[in-house]
Amino acid sequence: MFDTIAQREIGPYVVHELIGWGGMARVYRATDTARGDSEVAIKVLSDSIIGDPEYRQRFVREIEIASMLNHPYILPVLDFGCDSGLDMDLLFMVMPFVKGGTLAEVLRPHGPLTPQQTLYIAEQMGAALDYAHSFEIVHRDVKPANIMVIDDDTYSLADFGLVKRVDDWAETTSGNVLGSPMYMSPEQARGDQLDHRSDLYSMGLVLYECLTGRLPYNPRSLVETLGSHITAPPITPRQISPSFPADLEVPMLHAIEKNMNDRFQSGQEIAAGFRAAVAELSHKDRNRPLVTRMEIEGSRHLTQQPATRIIVGDFSPIDHLAA
Ligand SMILES: Nc1ncnc2c1ncn2[C@@H]1O[C@H](COP(=O)(O)OP(=O)(O)O)[C@@H](O)[C@H]1O
Ligand SMILES: [Mg+2]
Repeated sequence: MFDTIAQREIGPYVVHELIGWGGMARVYRATDTARGDSEVAIKVLSDSIIGDPEYRQRFVREIEIASMLNHPYILPVLDFGCDSGLDMDLLFMVMPFVKGGTLAEVLRPHGPLTPQQTLYIAEQMGAALDYAHSFEIVHRDVKPANIMVIDDDTYSLADFGLVKRVDDWAETTSGNVLGSPMYMSPEQARGDQLDHRSDLYSMGLVLYECLTGRLPYNPRSLVETLGSHITAPPITPRQISPSFPADLEVPMLHAIEKNMNDRFQSGQEIAAGFRAAVAELSHKDRNRPLVTRMEIEGSRHLTQQPATRIIVGDFSPIDHLAA
């Protein structure tokens, strides 16, 4: 596809190749000529939708909130601005370039992580979410594609594009379903008002995927995906692999309870639950994946009870729904 931004200059940034995109923005690798040609990532609101006030407002909010947050496990904003050079208006935000890519890119080819690595993610993303939640901010899009891999032991929460302040709820039309269906909390899938515990459910699913190499449902469609979160009992790690440690299954299932009052109530609680369970494992079990590829494949036929609730909602923006 012809890209009108690649190779152009935006302020002091020389833009190189496209490295990622989502519902509304594109992310490019760039060099910062004002700071010794350091490598950065620049997120640009696509020219085709900059005219849409809702998207523009959402991107401005992302920039506002992400630049306010200052936490060791949240991807920092280095700079932002608008550029109306040549032929188009652009809004942009600059971040450090993360060579390791996203957790999604690690999980896809490599399958399950070790319990020890999963614990790092629980501790770091738990701390990052608790910090964001302390400002009454809900991320709403916690998923592997929004967790950057700094190195094997260090992760960084990114993409505050769907972020919402809890007290801003009155301004939205209820029934709007925003987020990534595969990682949505039941209350999010229903289009209900959310609080921080919705992010904790999504984080629980991320941890489930880290440990088992898959998600706890076998849906066949978008509607079934949403319905699974709402009513289907999750496939348990021990249904996937009978040797999965019972002690680790307990916090795993607790993190994805459907009723928000039954879940861990903070990132710190999730981390503590996992830390205690991982401490009970032998050194060997702590440092190897607990589920094999064959077991993952074998679990594709496991049936969950069908979800029966009917979902009513506006599924826009549809791009964001493609998890
Ligand atoms: N700082 C970064 N370094 C490297 N890759 C990045 C960086 N930020 C984003 N990406 C890539 O771009 C993708 C989209 O970025 P993201 O901020 O999640 O935007 P969107 O709101 O469009 O999903 C990410 O999933 C990732 O693959
Ligand atoms: Mg994203």
